[in-house]
Amino acid sequence: MTNTLDRQPASIGGERMHESVIVTVNRKPIVVPRGATVAVAVALAESPCRRSVSGEPRGPLCGMGICFECRVTVDGRPHRRGCQILCRSGMEVSVDD
Ligand code: FES
Repeated sequence: MTNTLDRQPASIGGERMHESVIVTVNRKPIVVPRGATVAVAVALAESPCRRSVSGEPRGPLCGMGICFECRVTVDGRPHRRGCQILCRSGMEVSVDD
C-alpha cells in the first residue's frame, strides 16, 4: 500500500514547502525553503538579529512572538519579529544595530 503522504509535498497556504525563495540578509543572498521564517534566514546568514545595549549578539529565544529577541528590519520596517514573518522572494532583511 502506498502512503499518499509520501507523494504529496507538505504545504503552507497551498504553496509547496520544498520550493525555495531567495531573500537578502544584510545584502547577502540567502536561499531558504518556502515557508521558512525570517529568523531562519538570519540564522542561515550566520548573523545575530540584533545587539543588546551592552553589545551582546541576540537571536531568537522563544520562536513564538513573545520575547522580541528576534527583532530585525524587514523591507525597511524596523523592529519586526523575525520568528513571526514568513520569507518572501526578494525580501530585504537587515539586523537592527
Ligand atoms: S524568537 Fe521570541 S519573539 Fe521571535
